[in-house]
Amino acid sequence: MTSIPESERVIIFDTTLRDGEQSPGASMNLEEKMRIALMLEAMGVDVIEAGFPIASNGDFEAVNEIAKVVKDSIVCGLARAGAKDVDRAAEALRPAARKRIHTFIATSALHMKFKLQMTPEEVHQAVQDSVTRARNHVDDVEWSCEDGTRSERDFLCRVIETAIKAGATTINVPDTVGYTIPSEYTSLIEEIRNRVPNIDKARISVHCHNDLGLAVANSLAGVAAGARQVECTINGLGERAGNAALEEIVMALRTRRDVIPYATNIRTENITKISRLVSTITGFAVQPNKAIVGANAFAHEAGIHQDGMLKNAQTYEIMTPESVGLTESNLVLGKHSGRHAFRKKLNELGFELGDNAVQDVFRRFKDLADKKKEVFDEDIIALVDDEVRTNDQIRFVALQVVAGSRGPQTADLELEIDGVVKSTHATGDGPVDATFNAIKALFPHTANLQLYQVHAVTKGTDAQAEVTVRLEENGKSVNGQGADTDTLVASARAYINALNKLLVKRQKTAPAAMSA
Ligand code: KIV
Ligand code: ZN
Repeated sequence: MTSIPESERVIIFDTTLRDGEQSPGASMNLEEKMRIALMLEAMGVDVIEAGFPIASNGDFEAVNEIAKVVKDSIVCGLARAGAKDVDRAAEALRPAARKRIHTFIATSALHMKFKLQMTPEEVHQAVQDSVTRARNHVDDVEWSCEDGTRSERDFLCRVIETAIKAGATTINVPDTVGYTIPSEYTSLIEEIRNRVPNIDKARISVHCHNDLGLAVANSLAGVAAGARQVECTINGLGERAGNAALEEIVMALRTRRDVIPYATNIRTENITKISRLVSTITGFAVQPNKAIVGANAFAHEAGIHQDGMLKNAQTYEIMTPESVGLTESNLVLGKHSGRHAFRKKLNELGFELGDNAVQDVFRRFKDLADKKKEVFDEDIIALVDDEVRTNDQIRFVALQVVAGSRGPQTADLELEIDGVVKSTHATGDGPVDATFNAIKALFPHTANLQLYQVHAVTKGTDAQAEVTVRLEENGKSVNGQGADTDTLVASARAYINALNKLLVKRQKTAPAAMSA
C-alpha cells in the first residue's frame, strides 16, 4: 500500500514470533510459525521478527523458512552483539526478498555491570563492531539499546550516534522491564532526537513491555515524540505481562488520527482472525474484556447502552466491529455440499491441501455436518487444523467414554501408534482424566500436563469444542490442539497432538537456550 505519505506513516514491527514466543509455554513449531507469518504478511505488517537464529536450530529453521516464503514484509532476525550471533542471523535470512538484522546490547549501568560484566567502553565498542558486521551482511540494520529507559542518557546518546555512524538505519529504544511512564518516555525520545547529531539518518523505534500496564500508552507517547516504528505482538503476547498489543496500537492510531496524525499499513479487518489464530496456537486465552479482541469488546449488553446503540451506533461505539473483522460468522456449507464447493471454501480460507488431505477433511466435514445444523468458517478452520498433522507417530482412532455422577468414569480408547492400532480401558477422576489415563496406558510417557483449556468454536450447544493441552517434559513445553463436537474427543485429540509435538522436539537437538 502506498497511499500514506512516508512522513505520516508508522511502521509496524511485529515480534509475536520472537519476543512473544519467549513467553513461557508459548513455544510454537515451524508450521505454526509459518501460518502466523503468512497471516502477518497478509494483514500488511511491515516487519516480521521471525526469531533469534542462534538461540536454537528450531529458531534458525523458522527464520530461514519464513525468509523463503514471505515476500512483502521485511523478515527480521535477532542477534546479540557477538560476531557469531550476527553471522547466524545473516545466514538464516539469506533467502529473504527483504531482510533486516536486529542486533542489541544492554546499555543500562545495571545490565552492563551485573549481566554483561562489561565496562561502558567495552559495550560502546561492541555496538560499533556488531552494527558494522551486520551492515556487511545487509543494508537494513536495526540496533537496540536493551533496558534503554533505565540507561544513563549521556551514554545512551553517545552509543546511538555510534550505531548510526556504523550503519544502523533503525534505532530501537526498548522499555525492557516495563518501567517507564508516558511522560518520561516522551522526554527520552525527544532528548534522543535533540541530542544525537546524526539521528536524522535513522528511524526511531519504540518497544514497550507491559509490566505496569503502560506498554500501549508508552508506545503512543513515543510516536507522539517522533518515533516512527512500533514493536508489538498480537494479543500483547510476551514474557511476564507481555508486549504492547499490535491490535491496540493500530486501532488507537486509526480511531484517534485526529490527535495522533499517523497511520499504519495494517488491514485491520484481519485483526480478529489473527488474534484467534495466535490464541489457539499458543493456548494463551484472550481475556473477555481485552481491548479490541476480547469476546466482550463489542458487546453492548446494558439496557441503556443497547437503547442508544439502536438509535445510533456511535453513541457507544468508537469503532465498528467490522473494522477489526468481527462479523457474524459466515454460514458456509451444509451436509449436501459437494467436494467441489468444499475445496473452493478451503482455498478461500487460505488452505492449500493435497488431494488426500482434502479427502480426509471432507470426510470429517460430512460427519460434522451430520451432527451440527450449521457449519461455519471457524468449524472448517478447526477441522483442517486438526487434520493436517500428517507425520504423526500417534493417531486418534476412536473413543468411548462413560461420564456422569454415578462413577466410575471410564474411557475405552483406540490409538494407532507407529501404524499399529492398540486399545485400552481406563478409569479416572472424571471423563477427561479417564481419557488422558487411557492415552498414558497406550503410550507411556513422563510429560506433565500444564494446561487444559476448552473453548467453543462457534455459538450453540452443538458447537465444536476446541481444546488446548500444554505438556511439559524436561523443561520443554508444547501446546496441542484438538477440535470436535464431542469435548472428550477434542480433548483426546489435543493431548495426542501435544504428545506428537513433544516427540518431534525430542528428536531435535538444540544448543543451550538463551534469552534476549
Ligand atoms: O525488551 C527488549 O529489550 C528486547 C530487545 C531484544 C529488543 O526484546
Ligand atoms: Zn522485548
